[in-house]
Amino acid sequence: MTVSLIVNGQRRTVSATPDTPLLYVLRDDLDLNAAKYGCGLGQCGACTVHLDGKAVFSCLTPIGSTQEREVTTLEGLGTQEQPGILQQAFIDEQAAQCGYCIAGMIMRAQSLLDRNPAPSDAEIRRHMQPNLCRCGTHHRIIRAIKRASAVLGSRNGKGDAS
Ligand code: FES
Ligand code: FES
Repeated sequence: MTVSLIVNGQRRTVSATPDTPLLYVLRDDLDLNAAKYGCGLGQCGACTVHLDGKAVFSCLTPIGSTQEREVTTLEGLGTQEQPGILQQAFIDEQAAQCGYCIAGMIMRAQSLLDRNPAPSDAEIRRHMQPNLCRCGTHHRIIRAIKRASAVLGSRNGKGDAS
């Protein structure tokens, strides 16, 4: 089938069998390699992207279900030269060890900050539960999310004052 969807703000058209995982299409057809294949079973979160603003496991999302929908990947949050706020916070906190889980972690965390820019520690921990890090950098990951939240808060504060 032919699927037309919006990926990182751009319309893309791909040809694939309907049950092809979105993850495969992103990596193999669209050259978007940030999302990773970990388990392929919805158990690790390495493949996390946004579908219409919600964090989903792209390994379990059939491309046939994405017709005319919006997908955002890590590449859509910023660039190496101009990282997004959360990406910069992960860099500042040196939250990656091997890095394999990090794209998924950032996309999961971004979906939280998009709806709640000032989450509590408990909310962060609960929200991040589906994503696993085999290197055990969870403390740094949580610090990075809190750092991004603080930056968002200070920007909003400035906006209120002006
Ligand atoms: Fe998708 Fe593990 S690769 S959840
Ligand atoms: Fe290695 Fe998370 S940094 S799996």
